[in-house]
Amino acid sequence: MKNFSILGYGHIGKVHEQAILASDNANLISIIDFELPSGLGVKTYSTLEIFLQEDKETDVVVIATPNGLHREHAIRCLKGGKNVFIEKPLALNIEDAKEILAVAAEKKLRVFSSMQLRFSPVIQYVKKLLENNALGKIHMINVQCYWNRNKNYYKLREWHGSEDMDGGVLFTQFSHFVDILNFWFEKVDCIGAKSYNFSHTNVTEFDDSGYVDFTANEAVGHMTYTTSVFNKNFESDIVIIAEKGTIKVGDQYLNQMIYSDLKNVCCSKNVSTDQKNFHPNAIYEVADALMRNNESILDGIHAINLVKFIDDANNFSKSNKIITNKEYEVSHA
Ligand SMILES: NC(=O)c1ccc[n+]([C@@H]2O[C@H](COP(=O)([O-])OP(=O)(O)OC[C@H]3O[C@@H](n4cnc5c(N)ncnc54)[C@H](O)[C@@H]3O)[C@@H](O)[C@H]2O)c1
Repeated sequence: MKNFSILGYGHIGKVHEQAILASDNANLISIIDFELPSGLGVKTYSTLEIFLQEDKETDVVVIATPNGLHREHAIRCLKGGKNVFIEKPLALNIEDAKEILAVAAEKKLRVFSSMQLRFSPVIQYVKKLLENNALGKIHMINVQCYWNRNKNYYKLREWHGSEDMDGGVLFTQFSHFVDILNFWFEKVDCIGAKSYNFSHTNVTEFDDSGYVDFTANEAVGHMTYTTSVFNKNFESDIVIIAEKGTIKVGDQYLNQMIYSDLKNVCCSKNVSTDQKNFHPNAIYEVADALMRNNESILDGIHAINLVKFIDDANNFSKSNKIITNKEYEVSHA
């Protein structure tokens, strides 16, 4: 058994609590947040500082605080002698992400990242197809993410919508899709991006929509994303066009095989699942990797390229905007 504590008891902190309670190789020791209800059945702390002074039992701290605090909270926990399981994204820029890993290496502790959709059977099935070269040459990958995040969503939590704490829709809404590209392919690089703000100009400090051009090994890739869909989430999926097959994986939790036509697999088994919450799988994996001292698909090193990809995309979008503004000034001089 490994002992877990949770830092940040908001929406996802509660999901981790249930995942730890459901796991037979994990114990919940304590929860840390500013204000906590009574009757949680575990020790509670109102600050990370007091927890780090008093706690002697915790092996892993789950960092479930806003994105912009992950770096500081992870480093403080590592320096306090705890392994960390960091909610996505690991950090909001590549320097911070690398610093977390460097502190962990110095302290001989582990960093895990909450990339739980890697446990979707559909995602694992496609990974096996790719590893076995069953799809032949991969020509093209298209990622579509068409969601709705309205003004009320941004009013609910003050960190949502801020550049420093949220970091933008690619980090907060769509990072799992980027993570799955990194899980399936060894080398995924953002090569261009452009962004637009259709319906959140006075709501968020960043744009709500855009596209990203990327490469995944030798394949070309394109991602289109928006949180400006009318009324409610519309769809999100990943399409692979390959020499020996066509695949479309979808739904918000990438748990559905929407289309598959494969040359080498005559009757593809139904790998879709109704399971949407893969956090219990992730908690089990983290505890197991620590007990056996095994490498893990959730090791922080595998989350670095996600941060780089999104950071690059955001920077491309910002520099494209400057060029556009300059072009506008020239054309209107
Ligand atoms: N893996 C996923 O599918 C998934 C889904 C949702 C959110 N997330 C990630 O989880 C993280 C949290 O998101 P959320 O939706 O739960 O946010 P939230 O606002 O509901 O919860 C954050 C909690 O952190 C607490 N907190 C903030 N600063 C703190 C501090 N210094 N010390 C102690 N507690 C502090 C807040 O009081 C709040 O309770 C984010 O990084 C988000 O991107 C991941």
